[in-house]
Amino acid sequence: MKVTAKAYTNIALIKYWGKRDETLNLPMNSSLSLTLDQFYTMTTVDFSEAYEADSFVLDGQTMTDEKLLPVRKFLNILRKEADSRLFGHVISENHVPISAGFASSASAYAALAAAGAKAIGLDYSMQELSRLARQGSGSASRSIYGGFVVWQKGERSDGLDSYSYPICQEQNQWPICFLAVEVSREIKTISSRVGMKRTVETSPFYLPWVNQVTEQMNQALAAIESRDFQQLGEVMEANALGMHGTMLGANPPFSYWNTGTIETMKRVTSLRQEGLIGYFTIDAGPNVKVLCQVADAQKMMNELQQLKEVQQVTLCQIGPGITYL
Ligand code: PMV
Repeated sequence: MKVTAKAYTNIALIKYWGKRDETLNLPMNSSLSLTLDQFYTMTTVDFSEAYEADSFVLDGQTMTDEKLLPVRKFLNILRKEADSRLFGHVISENHVPISAGFASSASAYAALAAAGAKAIGLDYSMQELSRLARQGSGSASRSIYGGFVVWQKGERSDGLDSYSYPICQEQNQWPICFLAVEVSREIKTISSRVGMKRTVETSPFYLPWVNQVTEQMNQALAAIESRDFQQLGEVMEANALGMHGTMLGANPPFSYWNTGTIETMKRVTSLRQEGLIGYFTIDAGPNVKVLCQVADAQKMMNELQQLKEVQQVTLCQIGPGITYL
């Protein structure tokens, strides 16, 4: 059966940074995200006896070698779970700026998990899909759902309790949004996988950061519950700055920021002092995401677009979970 699924990216408000198991993508900490309505991946999968090998076409181009490998690895997981020996054909369209901190892996693996599971005949629940997507990329476990999503880290070594779930759907009616501020289109040199590993293994700042995540999660969840924008923004910013701080303590140290990242953060902070309220967060890349209220979005966009380092600002509102086409 040929199945097509679509999944949107998500932005973490409380970040996932550090794995306790590299193979299963089990995180050191729980995280919290918002699924967006702008950047997505659409993936079609089918398995057939007629195929003699797995194949993967991304944005019209046939992928080979190291570009094909992660997809083959994921299809191996599916084959194992479905007890199948069939090879698969995967066609993906990525509507995400790849490898510049817009977590294309989240939408990519969420769409691949959803389409792949169904195509191979697995009748999976959302929770099972989240667990499956996690094995492709941690953040993908959250993109199975729309709106605000928690990925609980779990305790088990087999990962069965490490999956995401959505927060009360009512909270998705809150008129807040993210502005995706693009300051670079360069491919990042340090993947999140490598960055996390180096940080966990070598940075003395890592434990203090990860130890405060539980408290920050509680603060963020309480802020969402009471729709306290300021509290949510403040804890989100503190969590991201702390995470990026851990990288400066790594050996060798590294940073995903460039001049545009810093200028954007400075401007968001000064605008706040001027009464236009927004809060920033940054992932494993130089681009910045600014959380603001929908009523302020246009004004904030106009201000940020004036920065010379800023190439593009995209307004992203709260988006849906996976859909089948
Ligand atoms: O899912 P990965 O392996 O691409 O890692 C994502 C890491 C961050 O984007 C930096 C944080 C997060 O929680 O999304």
